[in-house]
Amino acid sequence: KRVAVLISGGGSNMMALAKAAARPDFPAEIVGVISDKADAGGLVKADTLGIPTFAHVRKDYAGKAEHEAAILAELARLSPDIICLAGYMRLLSAEFIRAYEGRIINIHPALLPLFAGLHTHQRAIDAGMRIAGCTVHFVTEGMDEGPIIAQAAVPVLTDDTAETLAARILTVEHRVYPEALKLFAEGKVRMEGGKAVFALAS
Ligand code: GRF
Repeated sequence: KRVAVLISGGGSNMMALAKAAARPDFPAEIVGVISDKADAGGLVKADTLGIPTFAHVRKDYAGKAEHEAAILAELARLSPDIICLAGYMRLLSAEFIRAYEGRIINIHPALLPLFAGLHTHQRAIDAGMRIAGCTVHFVTEGMDEGPIIAQAAVPVLTDDTAETLAARILTVEHRVYPEALKLFAEGKVRMEGGKAVFALAS
């Protein structure tokens, strides 16, 4: 399966996906990395792995529609089967999502449906959670509310700050995202009728 990864920042999740995909038995290859920021650290990291990189900076375009059209044109050239959002900090329009219905996945640094949106680690600490974690889910038109593919939990320690908790979760993100992508690329999970349908026996 051909996978395009969208990033906005450091791209540590993109790197975890790229390293997993480099293994010969992995059912997907990363065919391109697209960023909405020209200075995204992940672009340099992808370059070192020889993965084609593209930056489409939002301010270079008249509006959201034009920006998305440029990204969709780039994707048409890459013709991915799957799109992975990995630290991509922009909401996709319903039209964009429809163009890749059921084929866009995302990693969110919280145990959805808890803590959709931003500042998830501080919110978990403020809520007194004793566990936190990350979720890989199908992307649907609502923010961070698509069907869940995989999750992983970590303890919230009494002296945790948002930074120490974020670091602990990032480590498990790097394990869970490749696992989830593998399941999806192998057809062992798919989105059907707005739900994640698992065929693990196959
Ligand atoms: C990670 O916490 C990820 O869950 C969120 O963005 C953060 C940075 O990700 N989506 P990355 O290092 O850019 O992959």
